[in-house]
Amino acid sequence: MSCLKAVGRFSCVPPCPVWAVLRGRHSVVDSIAMELVGKIDVCTGTEISGWVADKSDPQKQLWVDVDVNSILVASLKAALMRDDLLRAGIGDGRKSFWFDPSRYLEVGDNLVAVRFGGTHMIVPGGDGILVRGDALIYRCPDDASFVRLLRISQERWMASEPDSGLTWGQVFTGDSFIDAVLTRYTFHPAHHICEIGPGYGRLLMTILRRQLPFRSYTGIELSADRVQKLNSKFANERIHFVEGDANQVCLQQAADIVICSSTFEHLFPDFTRALSNLVTQLKPKGQVAVDFIQIDPEMMHRQQGFEPEGHAFVRVYSAQEIRTMFAECGLSQVELGPIVLGKAASGDVKRIFASAV
Ligand SMILES: C[S@@+](CC[C@H](N)C(=O)[O-])C[C@H]1O[C@@H](n2cnc3c(N)ncnc32)[C@H](O)[C@@H]1O
Repeated sequence: MSCLKAVGRFSCVPPCPVWAVLRGRHSVVDSIAMELVGKIDVCTGTEISGWVADKSDPQKQLWVDVDVNSILVASLKAALMRDDLLRAGIGDGRKSFWFDPSRYLEVGDNLVAVRFGGTHMIVPGGDGILVRGDALIYRCPDDASFVRLLRISQERWMASEPDSGLTWGQVFTGDSFIDAVLTRYTFHPAHHICEIGPGYGRLLMTILRRQLPFRSYTGIELSADRVQKLNSKFANERIHFVEGDANQVCLQQAADIVICSSTFEHLFPDFTRALSNLVTQLKPKGQVAVDFIQIDPEMMHRQQGFEPEGHAFVRVYSAQEIRTMFAECGLSQVELGPIVLGKAASGDVKRIFASAV
């Protein structure tokens, strides 16, 4: 249950979707001939959701920016499907967005504004004050809309797709990731390694090719099909693949290190649930090594949304968010550094490698 109460404009959100045509109100929008429409449907301490569209280009997917206390905390792509929008003739219906603002709210009054991305225009119903009490805000994982979105975010991964589809259209080795791991961790014949989202097994393949020592390895993978393929590819008594979800998996033995590449950005609504779960299953002094999307060199940027095709959730974290969230999950000594995972058709895949103890 949320300990927030909504006041101001958030307390009187109209009950049904409205077409609020804003053309003409703001010169910046007129100049690029857009007809922006939309609505905030829910605005509480744990959920800001609604939809946006451009009537002059109904197929286009727009972004929304969320400010809390005048600081941009998220840019969201409005690409989630809603049947009611489709029935109302709003493009292909893939126009909605969802965001949990809880971690950005201060105790007391918070000024919240939801804007059409890159503009100063407020989405109808999207400005007001959210009041946060002293208690921590807890989003119940059984909440119906949360469960629905979590399921959508995992649909792509539950299915099977070609190996190269998992890593930018090319099959990569795990060399650069394992090199980064080796800067802080020493593989040991008594150690247990846990990997989240092994995909087609490129990190394990590199560990085996380099003959790095370990006692056992467990890969936790959402896709049953991939687990089957991995089990036959790496038939070895020290290696196990388990169909499971990092958010709630229960390891059979505590891990000395958890490794994970190109996956944390897909955990909805953020990686903290999975990381907290894994941290409780680390041995004392156990380590975590994960990589993240990097958009700008300073890692200031943050954005999130659902892919229009396949619906995978993709979240870009700022360096500050990564550090704060790791600390919240009980990890200290977080180190961030650049890494290049491989070369895709579009160029080097540059990311940020995070390790913590
Ligand atoms: C983009 S692929 C990356 C694969 C691999 N880590 C690599 O870098 O080559 C993401 C992988 O994580 C898996 N995955 C996504 N969400 C997961 C979750 N909640 N728990 C376990 N595995 C997950 C997907 O099924 C997929 O195999």
